[in-house]
Amino acid sequence: MPANGHVLALDQGTTSTRAILYRTPELVPVATAQREFAQHFPASGWVEHAPEDLWESSLAVMREALARAGLRPADIAGIGIANQRETALVWDRRSGRPIHRAIVWQDRRTAGACAALREAGHAARVAEVTGLLIDPYFSATKIAWMLDAVPGAREAAARGELAFGTVDSFLLWRLTEGRVHATDATNAARTLLFDIRQGRWDAGLCELFRVPISMLPEVRDCAAEFGTTGVLGGRVPVLGIAGDQQAATLGQACLRPGMVKATYGTGCFALVNTGERLVASRHRLLTTIAYQLGGRRTYALEGAIFVAGAAVQWLRDGLRLIRDAAESGALAARSDPAARLYLVPAFVGLGVPHWDSEARGAIYGLTRASGPADFARAALESVGYQTCDLITAMQSDMAGLTEAGEAVLRVDGGMVASDWTMQFLADILGAPVDRPVLQETTALGAAYLAGLQAGLCPEPEGFARHWQLQRRFLPAMPAEAREAAYQGWRRAVRRTLSSVL
Ligand code: G3P
Repeated sequence: MPANGHVLALDQGTTSTRAILYRTPELVPVATAQREFAQHFPASGWVEHAPEDLWESSLAVMREALARAGLRPADIAGIGIANQRETALVWDRRSGRPIHRAIVWQDRRTAGACAALREAGHAARVAEVTGLLIDPYFSATKIAWMLDAVPGAREAAARGELAFGTVDSFLLWRLTEGRVHATDATNAARTLLFDIRQGRWDAGLCELFRVPISMLPEVRDCAAEFGTTGVLGGRVPVLGIAGDQQAATLGQACLRPGMVKATYGTGCFALVNTGERLVASRHRLLTTIAYQLGGRRTYALEGAIFVAGAAVQWLRDGLRLIRDAAESGALAARSDPAARLYLVPAFVGLGVPHWDSEARGAIYGLTRASGPADFARAALESVGYQTCDLITAMQSDMAGLTEAGEAVLRVDGGMVASDWTMQFLADILGAPVDRPVLQETTALGAAYLAGLQAGLCPEPEGFARHWQLQRRFLPAMPAEAREAAYQGWRRAVRRTLSSVL
């Protein structure tokens, strides 16, 4: 192994930052460090992060991982960054100081501005160019909001004094001490300002969203030379960047068209690789860039479920039915198989394919016999049913575009530790569910990008051969029972849509 045969993955997520050191070429994890940081909710529907928390937690976990592994910067061939996407930062180019806290992807403060743009008839062109919907989720309206809200910011931006970046870009700026203002194509694709066909910023959209194009970072491949950092005590190059869900798609080696991964955190993000083809969804899935390597873009369709692990948190913190998330499967297993309770966890509305932000949660089928085990089962099953809605929408959008083969779902994230939940998922999908050995797929994807660029990891096909199955869950529910259960869910969802009381 070369002296610098390790790569360092930095995964800057919504609630925590982690660093994992890997030994190449097989990408064996050798040390991990993680830090949580504060969430700020200054008003209803607003979510912010302190930029210094993002930076300091990143620095701390990278240093800690190195120390734990007993490695020095000279042992590291490169850093790969994966990050929470869409979250927007604006900073002063001279001082490096942000003009406002980061506005997080979950933040809804620009809902009115988005509705106005939709009503003015811009949705079709925006979807055509960016693959996205006009929604506060994405960066553009957050940037404009900061420029309007911070005194003097619009003027400073017009003078070219301000820079915008998603979290990767901000961290890169800090890592390179202001020398590099760049991002990768997957992060650019989440701003509403990027033409995903041409692979460049769109001047018309910058005008529409009132974001000066001069603020935007240079867009590079996911595996590229992003500059070097000295902050770890020796010079280390940054060689990879991708949005966290795209990094997980790489980490799951979903590299052929038709391959799907679902990452279960608080919510769930599923991406299906559509190859070089841009597929426009008929079910309001997003069209996005899965990765860009060697100047070639690979596309994906993406859908999100807002409440996945959050349903288990609700069992634990809201209902106090369990003390630990890990107890949920065992409790659900004690539910009466003949009972059928449906929980529609529309705690914050419903995502794909409904996009109903007004809907609120509901539970159906209660009897005198309903108890904690039935609630636990309904919560875990709701994750399976929602995934099924997502995958059904994807399959319908993809019909005829990929070779008919066995549909398999690759899963990762905290919730996949529950065998009970994964078995139900396979049952309700009627398809195998594959759980890999390495479940930190986001960090793995970022590490792979850095390893690829450093010449230490194989090309994508070779990397895909390293992907290792830990357990395959095969569908065991009879087709009729499955159909009856799923139809019950669909009825429950129909009753819940726009259910504000
Ligand atoms: O689009 C938001 C997504 O990138 C956030 O992922 O894992 O940080 O919640 P996570």
